[in-house]
Amino acid sequence: MPIITNIEDLKRIYKRRTPKMFYDYAESGSWTEQTFRENTSDFEKIRLRQRIAVDMSGRTTATQMIGQDVSMPVALAPVGLTGMQCADGEIKAARAAEKFGVPFTLSTMSICSIEDVAENTTAPFWFQVYTLRDDDFMRNLVDRAKAAKCSALVITVDLQILGQRHKDLKNGLSAPPKLTVKSIANMMTKAHWGLGMLGTKRRFFGNVVGHAKGVSDPSSLASWTAEAFDPTLDWKKIAKIKKMWGGKVILKGILDADDARMALEVGADAIIVSNHGGRQLDGAISSIRALPSILEAVGDKIEVHLDSGIRSGQDVLKACALGAKGTYIGRAFVYGLGAMGEAGVTKALEVIHKELDTSMALCGHRDLKDVGRDVLLVPEDFEGRWV
Ligand SMILES: Cc1cc2nc3c(=O)[nH]c(=O)nc-3n(C[C@H](O)[C@H](O)[C@H](O)COP(=O)(O)O)c2cc1C
Repeated sequence: MPIITNIEDLKRIYKRRTPKMFYDYAESGSWTEQTFRENTSDFEKIRLRQRIAVDMSGRTTATQMIGQDVSMPVALAPVGLTGMQCADGEIKAARAAEKFGVPFTLSTMSICSIEDVAENTTAPFWFQVYTLRDDDFMRNLVDRAKAAKCSALVITVDLQILGQRHKDLKNGLSAPPKLTVKSIANMMTKAHWGLGMLGTKRRFFGNVVGHAKGVSDPSSLASWTAEAFDPTLDWKKIAKIKKMWGGKVILKGILDADDARMALEVGADAIIVSNHGGRQLDGAISSIRALPSILEAVGDKIEVHLDSGIRSGQDVLKACALGAKGTYIGRAFVYGLGAMGEAGVTKALEVIHKELDTSMALCGHRDLKDVGRDVLLVPEDFEGRWV
């Protein structure tokens, strides 16, 4: 196994091993990718305060997210088409998360189905839903997640319509990939990936094909996807889905304090400050920059989580020190998965854990739950003065 010391190492291997279409799908933001870039570069603007002569023995990063024990406050974010990055990708990622003691979130647009993941894991996972026009299908999805004993429903609220990623259009992204001269030529250089795909039956959108009306075979899926998302989503519908579910609900995709207050009113258990990894509204501010004002508005009344741009344990430390009770990684685990399957996801989690633990210690803390704003040096104009 090559020596992996950081997430960037996993990304390099991932790029080499994965068909271009799927690498580009993950490694893109919408339009100019300004928000995608700033999600990571804004983390770099915050510095850590080094402290010395503090006992560093007996450290722990263990805490809770929505009342569930976690070995560190880092969940795996819902990522569509994970099973195209690596054969049976969702199952492998869920297993790695389970062994590490962190939550795994399955996307509606996954390749492995809810049932596939439930059969191949033992810890309850979280299920992410998009709000869809087809009420029957929506209800059926929620029932399937209940039957699979999912312990939280993550409702994504920032994708009624799709932000455009230029590369996906140019590459003709599809699952399974369309066979063109270009895509075949590229896939022939990805032997490991290809063998994995030949060895699995899971190559279509497992939660959709055979469940949504008129989608019994994959060829009709493209038109279903274009039509499926509900453009009329509003807070009443969010409340309706919450009631339909009846368990813990996390609202994903909040970037504004006013929306955070609405999430509170609707009774969500947690919100995720997120701009969908820079894949939706290009030009929106980074999640880490949006976090302080949202915490100020609702932080003492609801659990606030964050994703978008986390590539290291130091990023996790910064988000938690500002006040987030949990974080999520999207691309960071996808890099690991595409590089080395389940072992790669484990490696990504190990890298992040080690960086988090060491940075916490060097900032003078032994328990992540005690870490506060005092470990950070934040530029005065970090949040920006916008008019
Ligand atoms: C390839 C890819 C696919 C994604 N698919 C979904 C999805 O199906 N549902 C969802 O709610 N978010 C989806 N997201 C957004 C992630 O859940 C998460 O918000 C984002 O990846 C966080 O940013 P990061 O990748 O910088 O960690 C996706 C992100 C990526 C990179």
